[in-house]
Amino acid sequence: MRPQFLLGLIVVLLAAATAVAVTTAAQAATTLGASAAEKGRYFGTAVAGGRLGDSTYATLLAREFNMCTAENEMKWDATEPSQNSFNYASADAIVNRCTQNGARIRGHALAWHSQQPGWAQNMSGTALRNAMVNHITKVATYYRGKIHSWDVVNEAFADGTSGARRDSNLQRTGNDWIEVAFRTARAADPGAKLCYNDYNTDNWTDAKTQAVYRMVQDFKNRGVPIDCVGLQSHFNSQSPVPGNYQTTLSSFAALGVDVQITELDIEGSGTAQANNYRSVVTACLNVARCTGITVWGIRDTDSWRASGTPLLFDGSGNKKAAYNSTLDALNAGGTTTPTTGPTTGPTTGPTSGSGTCTATLTPGTVWGDRYNSSVTVSGASTWTVVVVITAPQKVSSTWSGTPTWDSSGNVMTVQSNGSGNSFGFTTMFNGNTSARPQIRSCTGAGGGTTSPTVVPTTAPPSG
Ligand code: G3I
Repeated sequence: MRPQFLLGLIVVLLAAATAVAVTTAAQAATTLGASAAEKGRYFGTAVAGGRLGDSTYATLLAREFNMCTAENEMKWDATEPSQNSFNYASADAIVNRCTQNGARIRGHALAWHSQQPGWAQNMSGTALRNAMVNHITKVATYYRGKIHSWDVVNEAFADGTSGARRDSNLQRTGNDWIEVAFRTARAADPGAKLCYNDYNTDNWTDAKTQAVYRMVQDFKNRGVPIDCVGLQSHFNSQSPVPGNYQTTLSSFAALGVDVQITELDIEGSGTAQANNYRSVVTACLNVARCTGITVWGIRDTDSWRASGTPLLFDGSGNKKAAYNSTLDALNAGGTTTPTTGPTTGPTTGPTSGSGTCTATLTPGTVWGDRYNSSVTVSGASTWTVVVVITAPQKVSSTWSGTPTWDSSGNVMTVQSNGSGNSFGFTTMFNGNTSARPQIRSCTGAGGGTTSPTVVPTTAPPSG
């Protein structure tokens, strides 16, 4: 081969290799929520209502998280300060903000021995049992349809080696208080997943973990409605990430429930903390029914354990090493898929709309009941994209953009939220597995005309 041909070949091969590398890098998700969603999971945070006005906090909340848990605002003392008189203002502020961000909500917590209002702390017996049932009914009914998962019962088992129930005023109303709570929640909001949530249930061999496992097994055997187990996963040097953590996740999942990591924080710093976060995230992604991870706050300074710097952002809102390892693990993982698992691959090619910018839709993962789509915008840095969904399909979550809806619920207008030039969303099939979203238009900053693409007409949903 003549030297100039050889040189040319090398240049071509190098260019091709670079293109592949660039393409791969460009495809990796750049936020926690978007990356988790690509794996059919969510990545959430506890939200403190008092911090919603903090602009750094609000920006990180909107950019990174597609699930929110009210840190204190949905608890019994906050929602029912005097008996049968309910106050949802603080919780609603969180629900509204997160919904506007395109995030979903974990409800926390309906029945718990702690953070009870004073009037309930002083109750016992039948009166307390009735008050608990009324509380669950009223709160779960008020939020019906808005909650992804409820922590129906929180922290009902004792620490240590006994494997016994924790003594509390609720426990003293009778051992069946937990199943009564679950049945009550199911009746009030049949669409929400119902979780049992606890801490110190991460090590598979601990008596407390085994006791919760036996309760969930018993509930499944007897038809008590339970859909998920929440592992709070608060870790520090006294309570490190156990080596058998993935075994715990997969063992609960094998009972036929989802597993959610609900309050993750890991005290520490630097590489050691980053590696711990990586191992927790990887364990979740390795378990098909580990469907989401929630960290218990955004910045270290927002944490209930602030001195232990246990979160993913420092006090100034900068990404820590733990953030990078978490995002890396999310992007790298996911060889197993959540819930019923994927059935088929993408069924349609890209669709695009034109206007003052161009939006290109790329099909994502498909599961038995839903599928993901991502949309990339070119030609504008701030944009508004209109997407049409075919009824009865419905979008269940959107990330990296702010969605609003028309009255039919099938025309979604997504505005850029500063997190980049792409957004994603999950659509529920609801019985129609063939239709796919269509881009109607893309409008860049500064307005201008849009050129709608042809969109299949959809009948407005009934009811
Ligand atoms: O807002 C008041 C403030 O006005 C007052 O001056 C101050 C004085 O103590 O208290 C403030 O309220 C505190 C509240 O957090 C908001 O910061 C409460 O005292 C304090 O008890 C409360 O702590 C919460 C704790 O649950 C209560 O049990 C933490 O924020 C919250 O992170 C923590 O969350 C729990 C989960 O619900 C269940 N799993 C464990 C987890 C960590 O403890």
